[in-house]
Amino acid sequence: MTHVTAPSSFADPLSDADIVLIVSGGIACYKVCECVRLLKRAGSRVRVVMTEAACEFVTPLTFEALSGEKVHVGQFCDGIAHIDLARKADLMIVAPATANTLAKIAAGLADNLATSTVLAAACPVAVVPAMNVNMWRAAPTQRNIERLRQDGRLVWGPAAGELACGTSGEGRMIEPAQIVEYARSALSPKPLAGRSAIVTAGPTFEAIDPVRAVTNLSSGKQGYEVARALSSLGAEVTLISGPTALAAPLGVHRVDVRSACDMQSALESAASRIRSERGREVDLFVSVAAVCDWRIQNASESKLKKSEAGLPKLELTENPDILATFAAAHPQVVCVGFAAETENVAEHARVKLDKKHCAMIVGNDARKALGSENNALVFVTAAGVESLAEMSKAACARSIALRCATLLGAAR
Ligand code: CTP
Repeated sequence: MTHVTAPSSFADPLSDADIVLIVSGGIACYKVCECVRLLKRAGSRVRVVMTEAACEFVTPLTFEALSGEKVHVGQFCDGIAHIDLARKADLMIVAPATANTLAKIAAGLADNLATSTVLAAACPVAVVPAMNVNMWRAAPTQRNIERLRQDGRLVWGPAAGELACGTSGEGRMIEPAQIVEYARSALSPKPLAGRSAIVTAGPTFEAIDPVRAVTNLSSGKQGYEVARALSSLGAEVTLISGPTALAAPLGVHRVDVRSACDMQSALESAASRIRSERGREVDLFVSVAAVCDWRIQNASESKLKKSEAGLPKLELTENPDILATFAAAHPQVVCVGFAAETENVAEHARVKLDKKHCAMIVGNDARKALGSENNALVFVTAAGVESLAEMSKAACARSIALRCATLLGAAR
C-alpha cells in the first residue's frame, strides 16, 4: 500500500472568482446584500453595479461596505467602466432582475451602466427575476425569458410564495443561499455531464414501536454535500436520505426513507428507473448513509405500554448490507463506500474495499466526523491510500466528487 498526502484543500469554484453583480430596482435588493456577504465569505471578488432605481431601495454604501469595492451606479459615470467590469468577470449575476431590466437585456439595450455591462459580458450571465406574479406571467415577460434562454443567459428562479406586493404566487426572488449555490455550479467544470449518480445519506431509523426507534448520530451533512458536489460537476443525482433536518441541494432529486430496508428498496427502484430512462445502469453509487446494522425483529405495531410489558425484550436481527448487495449485483456500476471507524481507519477501509466490491472506500474517523462541520478523509483504492488534512465537509465532498469523476473516466 502506498501512502500519499494530498493537498489540504480542494478549491471551491467561488474562491478567487470575479463576480459582477448587477442590481436593478426592486424590493428584493435587500436580500442581495446577503448574497454579497455569502460570495465574499466563499472567497469571491464581488463588484456591484446598481441602477438608479436600485439606489432607492438600498444605498451604494451598503454594497460598498459588504463588497469592499467601489460600487458603480447609474448611467455612464466612469468612462469605460462597463467594459472593464465585463472584461475581468467570470460570472455576471443580475439580481434582482426586474421585469424592466429583463426586457432591456432581452432586447439588447444598453441605456445605462447596468445593461451596458451585461451587453459587454464575455462570461456567463445569470438573471434572477423578482417581480409581482402578474408581471411575471405577462406574455411580454415570458417572451423575454424565452429569448434570454435562447441567447444562452442563465435564468435562476423565480420561486413561488409570498410577494412584497401582498399577494402570493410565482415571481419571488430565490433565496441568497440558492443564488450562491447556482453561482458555484455555474462556475464548476462539468466532467460528470451526462452521468447519473445515486447517493445515500443520513442515518436510518429502526422502529421499536410506532413512537420509538433505534438510530444513530449521523446528521447527513457529508452525504448531502457529496450529492451537491456531484451535481455541481454536472451529474444527475438522486439522493436517498434517511431522516435529517437538511434541505435537498438544488437540482438534486431526493427520496426520503426511514429504515435500512426502505433505503435498500428505494435504491433498487431508483436504479431501475434510471436504467429504464437511460437504457443503461446508473453510472455511480456513493453510499454515505450511516445504515443501522441491526433492526428490531419483534417491533410492535402498537405503542409499548410500561405497565403491561415491564421491560421490553427487544430482539435484534441484522439489516441487509445495502452497499455490498448492490455492488455485487451491479458490477457495471462504479460503487464508492464509506468506512466510519474509530481506529486504524485505512486498514479497516482496505478490508471494506474488497468485502463491499467497491472501486473506492472513503475512510473517516467517526468520532471526529459525527456532528462536526469538518472531516478528515482517507481514500483507499486498489492503487493505494491517500490521506487528506481536515477540512470542511463541503471541501471533502468536492474532493470525493473529483475522485469519482476520475474513477468514472477510468471505467468509461
Ligand atoms: N453500509 C450499508 N449497509 C449496511 C451497513 C453499511 O450499505 N447495513 C455501507 C455504508 O453506507 C458505508 C459502508 O457500507 O458506505 C461501510 O459502513 P460502516 O458503517 O463503516 O461499516 P459496516 O459495514 O457497518 O461494518 P462495521 O460496522 O463492522 O465497521
